[in-house]
Amino acid sequence: MDLSMPREAMSSTISTPGRAGSAGNVVELNEVRVVFGDLVALDGLTLSVAPGEIVGLLGPNGAGKTTTMDVCCGLRVPASGTARVLDLDAVKSPRQLRANIGVVPQDSGLYPELSPYEHLHFAAALYDLRQPKARIEGTLRLMGLWDRRGQRVSTLSKGMRRRLALARALLHDPALLFLDEPTLGVDVQGRRALWEHILRLREEGRSVLLTTNYLDEASALCDRVAIMDRGRTLICSSPAELRRGAGVALVLACASATAQVAASLRARADVLHVAESSHCVRVRPVNEAATAQIVAAADAIAKVTSVRVEEPNLEDVFLALTGKALRE
Ligand SMILES: Nc1ncnc2c1ncn2[C@@H]1O[C@H](COP(=O)(O)OP(=O)(O)OP(=O)(O)O)[C@@H](O)[C@H]1O
Ligand SMILES: [Mg+2]
Repeated sequence: MDLSMPREAMSSTISTPGRAGSAGNVVELNEVRVVFGDLVALDGLTLSVAPGEIVGLLGPNGAGKTTTMDVCCGLRVPASGTARVLDLDAVKSPRQLRANIGVVPQDSGLYPELSPYEHLHFAAALYDLRQPKARIEGTLRLMGLWDRRGQRVSTLSKGMRRRLALARALLHDPALLFLDEPTLGVDVQGRRALWEHILRLREEGRSVLLTTNYLDEASALCDRVAIMDRGRTLICSSPAELRRGAGVALVLACASATAQVAASLRARADVLHVAESSHCVRVRPVNEAATAQIVAAADAIAKVTSVRVEEPNLEDVFLALTGKALRE
């Protein structure tokens, strides 16, 4: 069965948080603010997703990722700002919008007593799909769940449950999907399988907004990553561009006294971040010019036997932007 959509015109535009409003995007959030009593969950968030793009929201717990998804799906009304999704106003037309999008919620939203087949049968009725049998079978086979179609969800692995949640989101063939932590709690092998399914969505011309806490996931899947903190997008760019902007890290192998080296480097103004292990100290200089002095300072405390220059990862990017680690 062919689950693919007519391929929409791919946009080559790389939009940035400040550029929402440009025509043709499937998601356009502009200055969205959401409050829960005194708590500001989204603080003027601006974000866009172009057709055929996978955009990731990366941020620590409580950054506002799920709230952003809820606004996009018409489940949360912002106090101010605008949310247009598939050219619909998410506040004014939430039902029409939800008929055209696929959603995998953070908690999967599955019924433990129902089987995969029953889940899709129920979803087919909700979406009023005609002749749903072939579509249900095709979707279950595609997601590797056909053999387990009659078993209760409570007996399935976490990876299978997430695949079922994705299968349910795909059943009505939506052009745009919202995946809230699609691989949460899934083991490495299960995550890889889910990644393949998500990457295939893009090959089929679909667009995806996903959230993740995993840096490798954001790098592997996303055309652009929006780094979020405290309800705001700090930056939105390709993973490669984000890494370029963060500068390199130096891994200094020390003969001894790594703790003293690390402590001394932490006190320096030209050092952004220091991490230590038994024989190495990993340092991020504020700029490349500081490299020589930093190595010399470390060498004066404990003999530095080698220096390796390492590409920054998204954790470094987050740290550079917020001054704190992603999982602090
Ligand atoms: N219904 C609610 N009532 C009150 N506060 C809420 C509600 N939903 C979310 N919040 C708060 O809003 C902030 C953003 O929450 P949100 O769930 O969007 O974060 P998140 O980035 O998805 O976090 P996580 O990584 O834990 O899923 C948090 O401080 C959260 O406690
Ligand atoms: Mg969340």
